[in-house]
Amino acid sequence: MTAGAVIGCGTISVVHLAAISSLDGADLAGVCDTDADRAAAAGREFGVPWFTDHAEMLATVRPQVVHICTPHDQHVPVAVDCLDAGVHVLVEKPVAATVAEAERLIEAADRHPGTKAGICLQNRYNVATTTARDLLATGELGAVRGGSATLLWHRGPEYYRARPWRGRRRESGGGVLINQAIHTLDLLEWLLGDVVDVRGHTGRYGLDGVVDVEDTASVLLDHAGGARSVLFATNTNVTDSPVTIEIVTESAVLRIHGDLTVTYVDGRTETRAERTVGTGLGKAYWGASHDLLIADFYRSLDRPEPFWIGPREGTRSLRLIDRIYRLDSDENR
Ligand SMILES: NC(=O)c1ccc[n+]([C@@H]2O[C@H](COP(=O)([O-])OP(=O)(O)OC[C@H]3O[C@@H](n4cnc5c(N)ncnc54)[C@H](O)[C@@H]3O)[C@@H](O)[C@H]2O)c1
Repeated sequence: MTAGAVIGCGTISVVHLAAISSLDGADLAGVCDTDADRAAAAGREFGVPWFTDHAEMLATVRPQVVHICTPHDQHVPVAVDCLDAGVHVLVEKPVAATVAEAERLIEAADRHPGTKAGICLQNRYNVATTTARDLLATGELGAVRGGSATLLWHRGPEYYRARPWRGRRRESGGGVLINQAIHTLDLLEWLLGDVVDVRGHTGRYGLDGVVDVEDTASVLLDHAGGARSVLFATNTNVTDSPVTIEIVTESAVLRIHGDLTVTYVDGRTETRAERTVGTGLGKAYWGASHDLLIADFYRSLDRPEPFWIGPREGTRSLRLIDRIYRLDSDENR
C-alpha cells in the first residue's frame, strides 16, 4: 500500500482525497492545512490524523506521496520540503507563482532523482485531447496550419472573496492566465508543437476594486514548424462554457468542445465523446481527468524514469505566461 497525504484542504482537495481513497494500492494517511478547522474537517471525514504544519505531518505520518493543493505561492516551499524528506510530490497547477520559484523546484527535483515530482495538468489525460494528439501524430491529417482556443468562464467577486489569495498577484502570481488558462496554453503547445514566440495582452474588465490581477487575456503563439494559434481567455463571461480548441490542418479540422469532433476535407465527421467527471466531486470545467492523472502518477512510482509531467514540463506554460506579463508591464511603463 502506498501512503498518500494531502496538504491544503480547500476546494480542489476533495478531488485528490476522493482519488486517493478510491485508488487500488493507495491509502490516505493524513491531511494538513494551516487552517485548523479545514484540516480537522478533512481528517474527521476520512478518519485520518490531521495537522496544521506539513513538517510535523511528514515526520509523524511518513507518507510516501504528498498531494500539494495549496495557493500558488505555497506550492514550491512545501514541495521542496517534501522532496528533501524523500517524499514524492504531486503538485497542483501552476507549478509555482513565478518562474524563479518553479526553477527552485526543478533544482530540488534534480537533486532527488529517486523521488518523483508531478504537476497536475490533468487535461492532458482527457479523451478528446489524447485522441487529437494521437491523430495529429499519425501525420494523416497533413501539416498543422494553426489553431484557436477560447476559455469563457465566470469568476465573480464571490469567487475571489471566498479565497482572497486568488485575486492577489503576490500570492497567485496573476489571474485568468496563470489560474485558469494555463491548462489551455499547455494543451495548445502540447497539440500544436513547441512555442518559439509568444505575444499577448491582459486586462481587467470586470473585477476592478476586487482583485489586482487580470481577468481577461489574448495571446498569440508561434509554434515550431510555422503554425500559429490564438487564445482568448476571460473570467468575465456570464457563465462557464466548456473550453474550445480548434486545430486546422491540411485535410481536417479538429474541434474540442468537451467532446472531440473531426471534420475531414470530404465532409466526413467523427466524434469521440469525453468521459464524464470521474469522482462526481469535480466541476465539469476542471476537466474529468484528475483521477486518471493521479492513478498514473502512483503507477509511475514503480518505474525508474521521472513522471512525464514533471516540474520542467509544468514550467513550459508558466514561462509563456510570465513572458506575456512582462511584455504587458514593459508596455505600461
Ligand atoms: N487542476 C485544476 O484544474 C485545479 C482546479 C482548481 C484548483 N486548482 C489548484 O489547486 C490549488 C488550490 O486551489 P483551491 O481553489 O483549492 O484553494 P483553496 O484556497 O480553496 O485551498 C487552499 C488551502 O490551502 C491551505 N494552505 C495555505 N497555505 C498552506 C500551507 N503552507 N500549508 C498547508 N495548507 C496551506 C489554505 O488554508 C486552504 O485551505 C491552486 O494551486 C489551484 O490553482 C487546480
